[in-house]
Amino acid sequence: MITVIGSLNMDLVVQMDTFPKQGETILGNAFQTVPGGKGANQAVAAARLGSEVAMIGCVGEDYFGKALQATLQQQQIQTDAIVTSTSSPTGIANILLYNDDNRIVVVPGANYALSPSHLEASKELIQKSQMVIIQLEIPKETTAYAIQLCKEAGVSVLLNPAPAANFDMQWMEDISYLTPNETECAEIFNEPFEQLLKKYPNKIILTRGSDGACYFDGSYPIHVPGYMTTAVDTTGAGDTFNGALAYALVEGQSLDEAVYFANIAASLSVEKFGAQGGMPTLEAVYARMAGVEE
Ligand code: RIB
Ligand code: NA
Repeated sequence: MITVIGSLNMDLVVQMDTFPKQGETILGNAFQTVPGGKGANQAVAAARLGSEVAMIGCVGEDYFGKALQATLQQQQIQTDAIVTSTSSPTGIANILLYNDDNRIVVVPGANYALSPSHLEASKELIQKSQMVIIQLEIPKETTAYAIQLCKEAGVSVLLNPAPAANFDMQWMEDISYLTPNETECAEIFNEPFEQLLKKYPNKIILTRGSDGACYFDGSYPIHVPGYMTTAVDTTGAGDTFNGALAYALVEGQSLDEAVYFANIAASLSVEKFGAQGGMPTLEAVYARMAGVEE
């Protein structure tokens, strides 16, 4: 079983032909409201592949909060440990989408009301998990406590350090995997990638979009290739990678196999609109790997 501790956002997505400049008003092409939040996205990615998933998070007492929980339940994700804040609204992400490029502003709202005491109340869930996935759209002290609980219970942690500003170097020792993209990696470590990956063998998996992912296996630098495809919407590609990586590792795949599996899953996700749109089933991932897609 995988537990995701993280954010739930409603994504408010505007599609446009160009980004507005400062002080400029432009017309957009379409507006859509779709479920998102890095935590919820990663939970859906793992569940769609077949993992048993529980989510710990916080929403507001509003329509978005109810809708987000309902979409998780539709994927058979356990939502009992999602709490409701009476003082903060459900988190939202304002997403400007232009071709396959995006600009995102997140307003955390209730996600920032998820406290260590909420985790304490869901301790048993954490203890019985095979893996816990965390991102950084929740308060820092809550992330710190989550890592501590996992350490005490001997549960491995996959930490996706996004947004990187909420990362704490002290966590490196206690986590099993860190999955930054190149921007996050540079922001956190300020060290040449090759040298850095060597310092944390089999722990830092550097993601590079369609170029795949890199890590150091203890002896050699490993580059796991990505899958070239035409992207419609890259929002949530990283989340698909993380959910799929957790799925594959829990299934007992080697790190090399799991990273490749996650790359393929992410490539499928970018072909459809929306963070959770396009997240593949297990069959879809294997079909692409085997080159036998419809
Ligand atoms: O990683 C993509 C996600 O980041 C979006 O769904 C948005 O909600 C933001 O949290
Ligand atoms: Na998508």
